[in-house]
Amino acid sequence: MKLDIKEKEIIEERQGETLDRPATNQKKTARKFYIESYGCQMNFSDSEIVASILESEGYQTTKLMHEADMVFVNTCSIREKAEQTVRKRLSVINKSKKANPGMIVGVLGCMAERMKAKLLEEEKLVDIVVGPDAYRDLPNLVGEVDGGRKAVNVILSKEETYGDISPVRLGGNGVTAFVSITRGCDNMCTFCVVPFTRGRERSRNPESIINEVSDLAKKGYKEITLLGQNVDSYLWHGGGLKKEFDLLSDAEKEASCNFAQLMEKVALVDSKVRIRFSTSHPKDMSDEVLHVMAKYDNICKYIHLPFQSGNSRILEMMNRGYTREWYINRIDAIKRIMPDCAISADIISGFCTETEEEHRETLSLMEYVQYHFSYMFKYSERPNTLAQRKFEDDIPEETKQRRLAEIIELQQVHSHNQLKKDIGKTYEVLVEGVSKKSDDELYGRNTHNSVVVFPRKNYKAGDYVNVFINECTSATLKGEAI
Ligand code: SAH
Ligand code: SF4
Ligand code: F3S
Repeated sequence: MKLDIKEKEIIEERQGETLDRPATNQKKTARKFYIESYGCQMNFSDSEIVASILESEGYQTTKLMHEADMVFVNTCSIREKAEQTVRKRLSVINKSKKANPGMIVGVLGCMAERMKAKLLEEEKLVDIVVGPDAYRDLPNLVGEVDGGRKAVNVILSKEETYGDISPVRLGGNGVTAFVSITRGCDNMCTFCVVPFTRGRERSRNPESIINEVSDLAKKGYKEITLLGQNVDSYLWHGGGLKKEFDLLSDAEKEASCNFAQLMEKVALVDSKVRIRFSTSHPKDMSDEVLHVMAKYDNICKYIHLPFQSGNSRILEMMNRGYTREWYINRIDAIKRIMPDCAISADIISGFCTETEEEHRETLSLMEYVQYHFSYMFKYSERPNTLAQRKFEDDIPEETKQRRLAEIIELQQVHSHNQLKKDIGKTYEVLVEGVSKKSDDELYGRNTHNSVVVFPRKNYKAGDYVNVFINECTSATLKGEAI
C-alpha cells in the first residue's frame, strides 16, 4: 500500500500544531521533583533529559513521590493498555495530591502529545501537559502553574535532539546506559502512533554522541545502548529533518555519517565498553552495519529486528516497506556475516483482515528464524493512525488472543531451545547486579543479551566475568565463574 499525498501531509500538519500560552515569570526554588516512566527505552532516556533540565534550574530529584513538590509521569500511547496503565497511575497520584494540594502534576511524553490539552479536561488533577520535543520549556511551564494557570506545550520540532544536554542517570545500575541517536520516526507504519507522538525523524550530531559515550566510559559505565525508533536510518547531514543520502550535496555527503559509521566511532571509544543498539528496521538494515558488528568484539552479537507479521499482504497493509522474502534475506545476511548472532523480534497478532493462513505465516517465519526472544502483542487500534482511518479492526478479540497465545507458546519453545544450545559454553558476562532471587547470586548478560545467573563470590556489578554455562530455564542461563 502506498501512502497518498494527503496522508504524507499529516506529518507536515503536525508541525503546525501550537497552543497559545502567555509568557510568565519563572520561579526558581529548590523544590523536589519525582519522575515515573512508562513505555519504551526512549521514554526512560527522555526522563533523564528532563531531570537534567530541571536540575540545571535548581530543582532536586527525589525517588520518593510523597516528598515531591512536582510529580511527572512520562507516558506511552503505543497500545490502549499502555494508556490505561497511565490513567490508573494518575488516579493514585490524585490521592497524594488531595493530601498535598500544592503538588504539581505533569504528564510528559507520548500520551501528552497525543491528547494535548484534552488531557487537562479529562484528568482534572493534571497541571502540565508537555510533549517529547518541548522539555526545555518545562521550567517555564512550572512557572505558569505557580502563577495559577494550567500549562501545555506539545509543539513538535524539526531540529530538537537535546544533543547538548547531559542526561542525569536516574535509578540506573551505574553499568549500563542508553544514549539516544535519533528522535521521531518518518515511517508511518499504519498501526503506529509514534510518528504522531514523536514527530519527524532527526539524527543527533555524532560528535555529541561520542562525547556522551566517552563521558559515560570515564564514569565507569560498561555498556551503551544506542537508541532510536529506526537506528539504521540514522544519517547526520548537519542537522534538521532526515534526508535521503542520494539527495545530499557532494559536500554534505562528504561530511555525513551513517549508522554503520557512527557505530564504528562509538565502538572505538573504549574497547572495554560494550555497544548495543535498538531498534533495527528490516527495510533499512544494511550489510555495512552487519560487517561493522562482526569487526568489533565490543559490539554485542544481538539484533532486535521486529517483523510484525510473516505475511507480505499484511506487511503491505502495515506499510512496513518490506516483504516476507526481503525480511528472510536480511536474516540470511545476519546468519552469513555473524553465524553466532542472537535475534529477537516484535510481533503483532490479529492485524486488520489477517486470515488464519496469514497468521500461520507468522508462525512459520518464527520457525525459520528461531528467535532468542520476542515482544508479542495483540493489535490495538490507535486513534487517528492510518490503520484506524482506513481499515476496520475486524479480527475478534478471542481470535487475536488465541493467535497471540500460539505465538507466545512457540516463542517459549524457541527461547528454551536457543538457551539449551549454550549449555557447555563459556560466555563473557557483564555483571549488572545481585540476582533478585538470591543475595548469593549475581546476574548479568552475555553478548546475546541473555540473562546469566551465577554464584557471587567476590565479583560485583560492572565486572566482566567468564561464566561456564551448566543449566538453563526458558529465560535464564545459569553457570559458574571460571
Ligand atoms: N520503531 C520500532 C517499534 C516501536 S513500537 C520498530 O519499528 O520496530 C514497539 C512495538 O510495539 C512495535 O514493534 C509493534 O510490534 C508494537 N506496536 C506498535 N503499535 C502497535 C499497535 N497499535 N498494536 C499492537 N502493537 C503495536
Ligand atoms: Fe512505529 Fe513503524 Fe516508526 Fe516503528 S518504524 S516507530 S512501528 S512507525
Ligand atoms: Fe510508547 Fe512513545 Fe515509546 S508511544 S513505545 S513511549 S515512543
